[in-house]
Amino acid sequence: RRRTTVRDLAAHKDRGEKWAMLTAYDYTTASIFDEAEVPVLLVGDSAANVVYGYDTTVPVSVDELLPLVRAVVRGAPHAMVIADLPFGSYQASPAQALETAVRFLKDGGAQAVKLEGGARVAPQVELLVSAGVPVMGHLGLTPQSINTLGGYRVQGREDAGAALLADALALEAAGAFAIVLEVVPSDVAARISKALTIPTVGIGAGSDCDAQVLVWQDMAGLSAGRAPRFVRRFADLRSTLLDAVHTYVDDVRDGHYPTVEYSYD
Ligand code: KIV
Ligand code: NA
Repeated sequence: RRRTTVRDLAAHKDRGEKWAMLTAYDYTTASIFDEAEVPVLLVGDSAANVVYGYDTTVPVSVDELLPLVRAVVRGAPHAMVIADLPFGSYQASPAQALETAVRFLKDGGAQAVKLEGGARVAPQVELLVSAGVPVMGHLGLTPQSINTLGGYRVQGREDAGAALLADALALEAAGAFAIVLEVVPSDVAARISKALTIPTVGIGAGSDCDAQVLVWQDMAGLSAGRAPRFVRRFADLRSTLLDAVHTYVDDVRDGHYPTVEYSYD
């Protein structure tokens, strides 16, 4: 099995085959997801939340994300590894975007990058693609803009649906190889998916996108608290891990671990 390429993803859409993408932030989980044949892994700036414990994705830096990208690339020899460009690392100019993307490809070993925004970042996408960097777009609920969006809510309702489609077409024209649609009405996502030749990757965007993505801690039930409506918990790792740690702590305290079978003569 060789590494997934942008051409493979385009071929999936041509054949009407859906595919799954998952976030990853470290070597161990990346190797599990690669073994499970997840074709695309995203080192999301959601690392801000799930790895670093920030309230939003706004504070996380390139320096914080780069080591995670390296670890995921080492753990996943078959998946396409996409590095998320964090807030402030690409908006200023196409040249800034290229400088950041080059770090993620050269130092990080990623095969592609993702950035948030529509027509306003089309010049960035154009330069990156012309320089040989595959770019995934990201529209709808774009968490780096939380301070202008004014909250984590559904995007693209009513008139905003047409604006979303225009942004998606602008990204495709600029050369993006795929676009994430985050928390948008299903009918809007369906319309965009049909209008584009490149694949859409939905998260809270209904069942008509060409692919799906979730933050792995959400899909595995590792995250605490209430999950958004779009999250399906495919496992309950938080309670599994809690039980394991409780048992370990109790058994050490009670002298039940380690016993002779775990000891050396
Ligand atoms: O950072 C992230 O995890 C993402 C995905 C949810 C698309 O951008
Ligand atoms: Na992100």
